[in-house]
This record gives sequence, C-alpha cells and structure tokens, in this order.
Amino acid sequence: MTKRKTPEELRSHRWYGANDLRSFGHRSRTAQMGYNRDEYAGKPVIAILNTWSEINACHTHFRQRVEEVKRGIWQAGGFPVELPVQTLSEPFQKPTTMLYRNFLAMEAEETLRSYPADGVVLMGGCDKTTPALLMGAISMDLPAIFLPAGPMLRGNWNGVTLGSGSDSWKYWAELRAGTITPEDWQGIEGGIARSPGHCMTMGTASTMTSAAEALGFTLPGFASIPAPDSRHAQMAVHTGMRIVEMVWEDLKPSDLLTAGSVDNAVTTCLALSGSTNAVVHMIAVARRAGIELTLDRFDEIARCTPVLANIRPTGAYLMEDFFYAGGLRALLAELGELIDRSQKTVNGRTLGENLEGARIFNDDVIRRRTAALLPDSSLAVLRGNLAPDGAVIKPGAAEARLLVHTGRAVVFSDYNDMAARIDDEALDIDENSVIVLQHAGPVATGMPEWGQLPIPRKLLQKGVRDMVRISDARMSGTSYGACVLHVAPESFVGGPLALVQSGDLIELDVPQRKLNMLVSDEELARRKAAWIKPVPRFARGYGALHQAHVMQADRGCDFDFLQRGGAQASVDGVAGEGQAGEPEIH
Ligand code: FES
Repeated sequence: MTKRKTPEELRSHRWYGANDLRSFGHRSRTAQMGYNRDEYAGKPVIAILNTWSEINACHTHFRQRVEEVKRGIWQAGGFPVELPVQTLSEPFQKPTTMLYRNFLAMEAEETLRSYPADGVVLMGGCDKTTPALLMGAISMDLPAIFLPAGPMLRGNWNGVTLGSGSDSWKYWAELRAGTITPEDWQGIEGGIARSPGHCMTMGTASTMTSAAEALGFTLPGFASIPAPDSRHAQMAVHTGMRIVEMVWEDLKPSDLLTAGSVDNAVTTCLALSGSTNAVVHMIAVARRAGIELTLDRFDEIARCTPVLANIRPTGAYLMEDFFYAGGLRALLAELGELIDRSQKTVNGRTLGENLEGARIFNDDVIRRRTAALLPDSSLAVLRGNLAPDGAVIKPGAAEARLLVHTGRAVVFSDYNDMAARIDDEALDIDENSVIVLQHAGPVATGMPEWGQLPIPRKLLQKGVRDMVRISDARMSGTSYGACVLHVAPESFVGGPLALVQSGDLIELDVPQRKLNMLVSDEELARRKAAWIKPVPRFARGYGALHQAHVMQADRGCDFDFLQRGGAQASVDGVAGEGQAGEPEIH
C-alpha cells in the first residue's frame, strides 16, 4: 500500500499548523474571511487556478464550474482556495496569446510556490491556457489535476452546421470572392459560437485538452465532454474530490510524465489530426519535465499514426459528435498498441485501465484503423536550406497537388506589408506562386497565428482556394491550406527566411520532407552579409523580457531560464516556504 501523507507533512502545515507569530497571522486572516479553524486545520489546501474572466468567452462557465470543484474538495475533506490567473482569451488578446503563454506559466508556478498550496486544480481550455497551466504546474511539481473547459456546442446558421474558426476562414474567403452576402456573413456571426466552451473544431484547444488527458492529467473521458453538458459539471465535482486524495497519495506531475506518456500525447494529437500548435506546446511541456521531445520524434510518430478523428478542419464532424461517438477514450482504445497503456494517470490507475470498456458508437466520426481518415502523416516536419532547424506542415489540410510544388516567391517583409499589398491588383502573383511572410516568429512578435496567409482577392475570384504559403508564424488549428509554419530559425534573428527575395524559386516536397530555396550558397552568403538586424519591437516590460529569452519554435518557445536544468530551474515542491511571510503590520 502506498504511504499516505500525515497532516503534519502537508506543505500548508508550515503556514497554518505551527504555533508561532507567522501562523497566527495566517490563521487570524483566514478567520477574517469567515472560516472556522476546524474547516481547514489539518486539511489539504487546494489551490484552484481559474482562468475565468469577462473577456474569455470559452470560459464563461468557469464561474459555475469552480463552485462544483469546490463542492468536490469540501466533500473529500480539503480546503479550496480559488486563485484567479491570466485568462489568455484567444480572440481578444493582441498581438497574440502566444506572447503571454509563458507569462501564465510563470504566474501559475509562482502563485503555487508563494502560497500554501498542497495541490492544484488547473482550470483551462482556451488554446494557450492548457499548455501554460501544465508548464507551470510541472515546474512546481505539486499534485495537479487539469479541468478542461470542454468544447462548445455545434454552430448553426440557417440549418448549416458551423465550426469555430474553420468556417470563419471559409466564409470570409467566400465573402471576399462575392459568393455570399453581407447579410449571410452577419447570420454566421450570430450562430458560429452559441454556448460556453472552447472551439469545437479540432483546433488548438481540443487538441491540447485531449493531449492533457492522454498525458494522464485529467479524469478519464473528461476532455471530450461538451461544456454545457451536465456530465461536465459532474466531472468537475469528481476532479475536486480526486485532487484531495492525490495530495494524501503525493501523486505529482513527475510521477505521470515519462517519455512514454509524452509519446502517448503526441500520438493522440496526430491521430486527431490536431493543431500544429501542439508541436510547440508539447515540446515546451515535455522539456519542463526534462524530457527532450524533438521535431523529428513528431515526424517519426506521425509516419505510423493513422488519423481516426473525422473532425474539422481535416474531417467532417465536430467535437460534440466526437463525444457522442465515444470520445477520446474510444479513440485511444482503437489506437491499440500505438498507445503505451502502462502509463499512470491522475486517478491512480493506468491509462490502459482507464480505457477498459471504451467503445466506438459511430465509426464514421471515430474511424476504425482499417478505415482511417488518413493512413498516416497528419503532420510532416520539413528541413532544407530555408528551414535548417525545421518547419511543419499539415498535409491533410492542404490540396494534394501542392504537396510537391516549385513556385516563384512573393515576399512580404511583415504583416503590415502583406495587409497593404496582398489585394493590390498590380501584385505580380499567380496560383503557382509561393507566398512568403517574414518577421512573424517568436522573437519578432511572439509568433502570432498569421500563418494561414490570405489568398489575393483576384485569385480567389478566379476560384483559387489554396496556395503554398511559408512563414515563421503559427497557424490556428482551425485553419487549413498548404501552409508551411514555424520556420526555424526565424527571419527576425537572421534565419534563412530573412534572405528570400521575390522571384526566388522555392521547392516544397512533403513526401521527401524538403523545403529549399533554389538559390546558390554564394548568393545566400552575399545576402547574409548584407542583412541588417531589425530593430526590436519591444523596448521595455514583459515584451522585452520575452524577446530576450524566448527560444525558437523547434524548442517550444519557452523561456531559456524556465527550462529544467537552467540557472534558476528550481522545481523543489517546497521552495518558498521559508518566505511564507510575516503577518503584515500596518
Ligand atoms: Fe477559445 Fe478558440 S477562442 S478555444
């Protein structure tokens, strides 16, 4: 039997349990909040990191869910303490939530370190909130359980099912091409997001919450439950109950994270044909645990992982359908030997034990391996003289004719340059051209989701819907197209992407995993010598910190000083106790 902690061994005991001046302060201030001593004495203090805010539509229900989590914590004999943290609202935060992912990761870690937390419930779902909370919790290494926001219900407009993001891009292109009216567009606006929950296509949110479940961080099946479903609320109560037990058992992230559980999460992302953003986030998450996940490992796993989730943008359905079809447990069970079932999860059981009895109820939504949506390679890692440290593409989201393609580059030096010229009638561009965007990488501007570069209006009107597009940006997981992303090193730091000029021939060969510009080494050396370092975008504050410390996409865009093994990479679960604090004297 596993040894259980005693109340005196709880981390919070140093705050509440001692008979000294400091503890007097903590207890008197807890009394000030209306608690009796017997409500918390000797109980695990459970921090609830809540990313709710009035600007995050995906987390609208977190105000209610946190009460359900607290209910579970009280029932199991814990003491809940809700702590609000950065909300990272994908549609609203500029220039990109990616700029702030590491901010939330730091905030999560430092909040846990500096307060009397014995365990933590991580409440996230909207894109970057999931990796950020996991990164912070992994670095702090206290017992941690993840509560996924759950997908919103299917969108609907005039009887047409709408998917988040994907249908925004699709109908925006149709509006620009003149095939739908402004009234249609307004109708779509009203029907595309009609309930609480995160994007219900296989975007970054659905990909990363599923990855969190496959890593072992959620109760089984939780990531697939739609946000408004009563079973989501029930699972929140169970999450609260479970974290209290995890504290007594001392079940920590370091007990869950292994090369095997990371591979399980990667396999999951690929079988879902998930967002390319998962590459950056999973590398960052794994590296926080000291596991060296590489781009090449993604490519290796992709080559033997079939796509089983028939979900947009690669497939036809949405997350609500996925849940009714059996959800993630059914998909993981169907993956068979591709999943390492021996890995531990937050409920104390192995992933394999959690998959027992899982069934597919609709095998068009969750495909059998014999009828996979794609046999393999939902993601490909490209290398060549344009991306020596790698780039990624989602072949299933591109028109097949473009996967082996050579075309003339049309280069935009930054986003504003592209916005100003892309629809210019005089722009020298045709459907075989390769659109290139520079200065959109992690150091330049926090790596926004600009990678699905727009197709010029004049080509849209000719019926062109896909072209090869290359950038050091990311792309929303709800996007599609022959978009080569995450080019590393980025152009802002002098990577080869900075040297491409309009008119250069660019060769993309996805089956061969190649991305090259057909320019001689001598000419590239000449251009490199003439390259002028751009002026940094941020002169002060968090932006300047980000710019100075963010690593390239192939290393997960984490800050160099937050990596395990770095100069300040303390992952001591009791760090900071010595600073628990004198009571303030005014
Ligand atoms: Fe929150 Fe898409 S906007 S997940």
